[in-house]
Amino acid sequence: MPQHKFIVCNYHHSLTSGTVSWQAPSNIALVKYWGKYGEQMPMNPSISFTLENCHTQTTLSFERKQNEGFDFEVYLNGKRETGFEPKIRTFFERIVVYVPFLEDFRFTIETVNSFPHSSGIASSASGMGALALCLMDMERQMLQQMGFELDETGRLYFAEKASFLARLGSGSACRSIKGPLIVWGEHPEIEGSSNLFGTKYPSDIHEIFQNYQDTILLVDKGEKQVSSTLGHDLMLDHPFAASRFRQAKDNLSKLIPVFKNGDLLEFIKIVESEALSLHAMMMTSMPYFILMKPNTLEIINRIWEFRETTGSHACFTLDAGANVHLLYPESEKENVLQFIKNELVPFCKNGEFIEDRVGLGGQKLTD
Ligand code: PMV
Repeated sequence: MPQHKFIVCNYHHSLTSGTVSWQAPSNIALVKYWGKYGEQMPMNPSISFTLENCHTQTTLSFERKQNEGFDFEVYLNGKRETGFEPKIRTFFERIVVYVPFLEDFRFTIETVNSFPHSSGIASSASGMGALALCLMDMERQMLQQMGFELDETGRLYFAEKASFLARLGSGSACRSIKGPLIVWGEHPEIEGSSNLFGTKYPSDIHEIFQNYQDTILLVDKGEKQVSSTLGHDLMLDHPFAASRFRQAKDNLSKLIPVFKNGDLLEFIKIVESEALSLHAMMMTSMPYFILMKPNTLEIINRIWEFRETTGSHACFTLDAGANVHLLYPESEKENVLQFIKNELVPFCKNGEFIEDRVGLGGQKLTD
């Protein structure tokens, strides 16, 4: 069912050609989204830190055309990437009801990631986020030509609709528009939370979480073993699905006081358990998968040992892959980086890791 709030009935049609450029970051979930229904709706609420350094920059050039249908080309790092085009086509098909001008222009989509394509870091969240922001920029230009002002309501609408569109490209991308802490999926204790788009976590956040660090340890840099689409589908008739969805909702409830009081011991318990639960779902689905590698487990064990011996608050989380995200407060940065260099680098592919931290979301790049 179309969401009427996001359908603009009448655009001004004087826009003929131009270019818009936006940057959107990646995000790392603390409570994981895994399992969806309908058109990219989450089976459970999730929450993520928006990242700062891992991002995609997209330039969208457009020129009015007469013929019907979609017309676009995708370039990655200056090279045509026809392999990305089916995914973009599916995205356009899903969102055209909300941005009908898609059929009126010929597009060139030029995209650059701050992280290497082969790093095993998913570019879909930042990529779909950046493209959705570019499209919203075009819509805004058309609406402004019709006399609409960009007041606070307009700005909120812009971010909500960008997140709404990004979600239709890749679910977790809806958490990549704003920062620092974004909720996606209805949760009874989180005001404004929605299945349709990501919203800023609205309650108190302790200062310990300000500038929280995420060092991404690159364990395996290959192609994803299980696509997100297949992974989400495996939750449809998963024997533990109902309890997993309940667990995620409960974990988000438990994080609310933690965000307020900065209780890092409780934070660690919830975040690490979420990561392992996500992987447990993959190990117990049919077909089943083990997405961790031996070095993932080596790293996890070293983190536990490091915490035990030093009293550090560093903890890990995982995406649907073998890389490890090491999360820690900024005050521990020096010690943790030393620990990474001394003990974890040998388990990273080519010794590589990416230093990142919590960020504030998408931004417009200069015209
Ligand atoms: O956005 P998708 O469909 O690629 O799903 C990603 C899901 C996880 O990254 C594994 C967890 C999450 O909430 O980000």
